[in-house]
Amino acid sequence: MVKPSPSALKQYLLNAEELGNPLQVQDLAPQATSMAVEIGFGGGEYLAWWASQHPDWTFLGMELPVDCMLRAARVLQQAKVDNVRLIRGDARYLLREIFAPQSLHHVLMQFPMPWPKEKHAKHRVSSPQFAQTLADVLVQDGIFELVTDQDWYAKETAEVFAQHPDFLASEIEVQPHRPFQTRYEQKWLEEGRSIYRLVVRLLRPSHSSRILLPQPMDCFSLSPSLVGADVKKLLGSRFKQGDSVVEVKEVFAAGDGWMLRVLSSDHSFSQLFHLRIRKKKDGRCLLKVDEVPRPYYTQAVRFALKSIHQALQQGEVEVLR
Ligand SMILES: C[S@@+](CC[C@H](N)C(=O)[O-])C[C@H]1O[C@@H](n2cnc3c(N)ncnc32)[C@H](O)[C@@H]1O
Repeated sequence: MVKPSPSALKQYLLNAEELGNPLQVQDLAPQATSMAVEIGFGGGEYLAWWASQHPDWTFLGMELPVDCMLRAARVLQQAKVDNVRLIRGDARYLLREIFAPQSLHHVLMQFPMPWPKEKHAKHRVSSPQFAQTLADVLVQDGIFELVTDQDWYAKETAEVFAQHPDFLASEIEVQPHRPFQTRYEQKWLEEGRSIYRLVVRLLRPSHSSRILLPQPMDCFSLSPSLVGADVKKLLGSRFKQGDSVVEVKEVFAAGDGWMLRVLSSDHSFSQLFHLRIRKKKDGRCLLKVDEVPRPYYTQAVRFALKSIHQALQQGEVEVLR
């Protein structure tokens, strides 16, 4: 496991807790002229190089594994770049949810996992929804750039953008000139594979609906006479309302109350987080979202709070098992 210094983690990692309103370029760097994103930055080498080429821009990298976050934080610190932040999560949702409309100048994705089998197609980042997300968060004339070793993936992505009325796609370039190569790129070139690049430009921004709620979650008051047996009855409960689904996966005593481990889904966006029930010294009993680490605030997280509150207060909520 790569160990970056605590100062590198503090400098480069951006947490969901820090996000309030949708991000604008000024929120990351007041002096920056443009904001760019790299999806799936791997070890962060390209991001460090890219940021060093544009010191007046600000950059945000998105990745899934913790290991990539740690390795990239160390690489960025060694490269002494100070115009990059890293955020962990699935770019298909993060891109749509955390940026203000028309806030990004360039989104880059290099050697994404292509998920070639049709049964895994839902994992591919490129999709009509992704194009609509980009139509919302890119500025007019903003760029999405894909670099891949899979010709069919480049063609499929070009087709997705060709179907969207607000984008103009370039021809797919084969073996484009690239002044800096990513780790995967070096590997594929050594194996003799071809590299493909697609660049699309946004002609007209348009809106995409989002699931993140701008305001914090409420804190609910519960009966002071609540006992552990009432809380434990919630284990395995499922609640459903529209696109929000919530399931209580675990219930355990914690300090001066209990914790519920909850799985929530808004459409296909799933999160695991904790709700805390706390008996206060003044006799009150409170239910709230545990903030460390806190989930992204969505309709399903709000629904989890409301339905569990109601279930504990009245037992009247329909519980699907
Ligand atoms: C084949 S690696 C390429 C890494 C790097 N771009 C390079 O060229 O060396 C693909 C990377 O994309 C990341 N990735 C895949 N799906 C993602 C998603 N939905 N959101 C963010 N990152 C993703 C993976 O974790 C992985 O590190």
